[in-house]
Amino acid sequence: MRCRCLSAWNRCTQPCLRLRSHILKVVLALVALLALQYALSNIFEARQLEPLFTVNFSHSRGHSHSSSSSHSRGLLFPNHTIANGSMHTLIDKLTANLNISLEIKNASIHATYESFSGNTSNLNNVSNSSGVNQTIVSTAAVPVTGKVVCPPVPPNLIGPIKVAKESPSLEELEKKFPLLEPGGRYRPRECQARDRVAIIVPYRDRAQHLSTLLLNLHPLLQRQQLDYGIYVVEQAGDGPFNRAMLMNVGFVEALKLYNYDCFIFHDVDLLPEDDRNLYTCPEQPRHMSVAVDVLRYKLPYPSIFGGVSAMTKMQFQKVNGFSNMFWGWGGEDDDMSNRVRHHGYHISRYPANVARYKMLTHRKQHANPKRYEFLNTGRKRFKTDGLTSLQYERKELNLGKLYTRVLVELATPS
Ligand code: BGC
Ligand code: MN
Repeated sequence: MRCRCLSAWNRCTQPCLRLRSHILKVVLALVALLALQYALSNIFEARQLEPLFTVNFSHSRGHSHSSSSSHSRGLLFPNHTIANGSMHTLIDKLTANLNISLEIKNASIHATYESFSGNTSNLNNVSNSSGVNQTIVSTAAVPVTGKVVCPPVPPNLIGPIKVAKESPSLEELEKKFPLLEPGGRYRPRECQARDRVAIIVPYRDRAQHLSTLLLNLHPLLQRQQLDYGIYVVEQAGDGPFNRAMLMNVGFVEALKLYNYDCFIFHDVDLLPEDDRNLYTCPEQPRHMSVAVDVLRYKLPYPSIFGGVSAMTKMQFQKVNGFSNMFWGWGGEDDDMSNRVRHHGYHISRYPANVARYKMLTHRKQHANPKRYEFLNTGRKRFKTDGLTSLQYERKELNLGKLYTRVLVELATPS
């Protein structure tokens, strides 16, 4: 009898072996596809999440958001073990135990940096005035300290920390941080820091926020054993604010003072809630303010790169810095996100339970109506608009006790 399974499957009386084996193959193929998709998604997700280490749980009692049920500790591993099996971290951890021989090697590597002159010859058209209050001594070289390199996981981290919302006077703050060197510089005494980090804060007229930021940031950066400096880049005048251009200025000016290898671009109103959120630069540009309280601790969209972000000197130069064309609120960080991906990088992030921030409140700024237009056509200008076209006049440079202040007049487009 002829099998009619195709037309009347249910009524077919004989087993229709050929048809069934076809169906079986299709089902198997589907299962294989699903498994492949699952495996690939795991790989891509792993690229997004950086390996996370653990800090002492016993210190995390009474932190500022202990009531939050969304604060999962699922990704934490007790006793300083390494999560996610990251080979990179593992190598770091192993080499930390061999500090004597590596220290000698590192010292010679650092010695080669000594010849760095702070020359930003690849940055054209940077116009600086003679400046007021110039007390600058070029410190561009990295000293050979003969110290043991700091461990890859800073030993004194707390984990979730209590965010302080006060804004003490600068004198009070100065007393709190006696170990700072002029310009808000710090390097750990106990070991040779692994990272030379410039924190760039674009700024205008937010004295209270700045004080609160300094109050929270200095202790965190010191616990992270970083060789760091804070650069507050203030826009002169009352024209539209240009956050991105101030970041470019901060990058150029900080490099004149020291051979930083890592740059953290930091809004003045964001306060970190966890000191495991390391202010360092990994292999890929890192978006740091993943979970912000006013955004209900959720990433608003996957490509976001605003708030706080970290890039190496090389990455920032490769993408030609930020665009200089975004005057007023919005879009400049999205343009940077496009630059990052256009140049073959991807945005990396710590998990949301670590990369948490509180935002200080302020009046909403005037949004730039041209931001979408500039964003859409941005790609055409990546090469020509950025560090290579940056123009500004440096009006003041003060090495304050808590930070380096750079006051600038930004050149408006002609
Ligand atoms: C703006 C960005 C901003 C983001 C989050 C976007 O629409 O273009 O500049 O960072 O919203 O507020
Ligand atoms: Mn803000």
